[in-house]
Amino acid sequence: MSFPRACIIGHPVAHSRSPVIHRHWLAELKLEGDYVREDVAPEKIASFLAGFATSGYVGANVTVPHKEAAFRAVTRAEPVAATLKAVNTLWLEDDRLIGTNTDVYGFLAHLDESLPGWNTRTRMAAVLGAGGAARAVIHGLIERGISRLVVVNRTRTRAETLAAELGARVTPAGFAELPQRLKEIDLLVNATSLGMTGQPPLDLDLGPLKSGAAVYDIVYAPLETPLLAAARARGHPAVDGLGMLLHQAVPGFERWFGVRPKVTPALRSLVAAELGARERAQ
Ligand code: ATR
Repeated sequence: MSFPRACIIGHPVAHSRSPVIHRHWLAELKLEGDYVREDVAPEKIASFLAGFATSGYVGANVTVPHKEAAFRAVTRAEPVAATLKAVNTLWLEDDRLIGTNTDVYGFLAHLDESLPGWNTRTRMAAVLGAGGAARAVIHGLIERGISRLVVVNRTRTRAETLAAELGARVTPAGFAELPQRLKEIDLLVNATSLGMTGQPPLDLDLGPLKSGAAVYDIVYAPLETPLLAAARARGHPAVDGLGMLLHQAVPGFERWFGVRPKVTPALRSLVAAELGARERAQ
């Protein structure tokens, strides 16, 4: 008997924790199915996706560096994916490839869970970074009515391009302006790769940060980044990146396997333990 199979498409993809998440849910919900890794090189991605309907998979997640290629490959993209021009979740309808982007959902779901009512307390936010992850974060904040946003990026022109695209609510800035901005904001989000294992640290003095401002780091390896540790030490509410990873997986699982799974403390502990084991092995 055949059972539904999904995969995570990336390059490299060996590090992906998505199989742990989806297999946990399959076992927990006693569903027949599987979820595997597909390492697809950039020169092969267009043909892989063009032939997806005959691959035997019911759907897929897409990670770095293929989210833009997946957007180009779909017959239809849901509005959020069209806005971000990036697809991270695929499925088939009548053999046609359809895509969405669940990063915005994952970012907001974890923020809502961690700091209920955060949006009523957030007048101004700063987002560090101007890549794909930052775009998802910024769209989530705009969706929730945050009226003033500062996009801080090493390459200032990238922040300027993003701000020009998103309108008057978004102000571009370079890192040199950040200390001044920290005094005014209610939420700081790191959407760069800084602080991730193997990347340079995010060297940021939180001294000037407004009292009570929340700090969200979308980096989840390590789970407790130096940024989050510094925020907690100063009494700021701190939100880690693991919840975003877990929540963004929910809509795809529901679509492929037919049941909406839950992000539970047990799942969080399982993935955190896996990440910890990897950290220790490095
Ligand atoms: P993603 O799609 O995952 O967001 P990306 O498009 O490569 O990845 O973006 C990475 C972000 O991290 C960018 O904002 C990048 O800044 P630049 O636009 O200046 O490249 C930021 N970043 C990466 N390494 C950095 C570093 N060493 N110092 C400062 N910012 C860095």
